[in-house]
Amino acid sequence: MDELSHQIVERQVLSPNVTRMVVRAARIAEVRQPGQFVILRGAENAERIPLTIADSDPARGTITLVIQALGRSTRELVALNVGDSIADIAGPLGRPTELIASGHAVCVGGGVGTAVVYPIAQGLQRRGVRVTSIIGGRSREWVIFENELRQQGEVIVCTDDGSQGRRGFVTDALRDLMNAQPIDAVYAVGPVPMMQNVANLTRPKAIHTIVSLNPIMVDGTGMCGGCRVTVGSETKFACVDGPEFDGHLVDFDMLRDRLTTYRTEEQAALSAHEGPCRVGI
Ligand code: NAD
Ligand code: FES
Repeated sequence: MDELSHQIVERQVLSPNVTRMVVRAARIAEVRQPGQFVILRGAENAERIPLTIADSDPARGTITLVIQALGRSTRELVALNVGDSIADIAGPLGRPTELIASGHAVCVGGGVGTAVVYPIAQGLQRRGVRVTSIIGGRSREWVIFENELRQQGEVIVCTDDGSQGRRGFVTDALRDLMNAQPIDAVYAVGPVPMMQNVANLTRPKAIHTIVSLNPIMVDGTGMCGGCRVTVGSETKFACVDGPEFDGHLVDFDMLRDRLTTYRTEEQAALSAHEGPCRVGI
């Protein structure tokens, strides 16, 4: 097979709209680090989709991507099957996660963001850092990567409806853990309100808190300005300066505004396709 062909070798539905795909991308698999992402196009002329690299297997020459099918492009992507190929994958992009070197780290994953904290937990555990993961979903069928995270340390599962683990948001479990144990760093990935609430919880205790931002991305090279965010009153580009930033410095309200800028166009694209499009994870 052409070593540049990005064939899908595994496909698994993880939750009602989240699909895991293992894809051939040998060079990316060799060099990627936790926190980095790719930008892919499922088909030529398709929209570019930024996706965090959830895992990789350098020996097999594959990377693992987890896709939340929210819009037209992501729906088209998850419709591909094992044996099909993705037109192009650029990466690894972005700065690797700043992993602490020792102590106790808490990885907080909300919904599909859990797939993004997984490589961070893996990187921390490999360094000898004690890892506790707090993961949440609306209900039990939305909880993902629990078994994988159990390989990295303790896992606390939360569901909004109490159908698995403790009832409530991941931030409820984080609050209790913070009161019970010393924590050296928190890594949080999920919905913007979740990351904002995590940062609000850890700020009074000055616990180093890293969040992964997912603004709209176009070129992934720092040229188009599409992914600009405000961090500590400075403009940053998530694709080259991030995607991870100090959660205590991020302007979450501006991020939320920018994420909704193209909602009308996304709805129109979705309607045209019977169903919108936006980034995967
Ligand atoms: P969701 O809305 O189902 O929420 C998942 C969990 O997050 C909830 O069960 C709860 O525990 C927690 N949560 C939600 N709202 C909260 C709040 N206000 N306060 C505290 N905790 C809260 O999640 P979903 O539908 O899987 O969506 C995931 C979101 O994460 C998407 O919006 C996606 O764009 C975003 N995301 C971001 C990144 C990134 O790199 N930053 C990556 C993947 C996904
Ligand atoms: Fe264009 Fe970041 S995606 S500047």
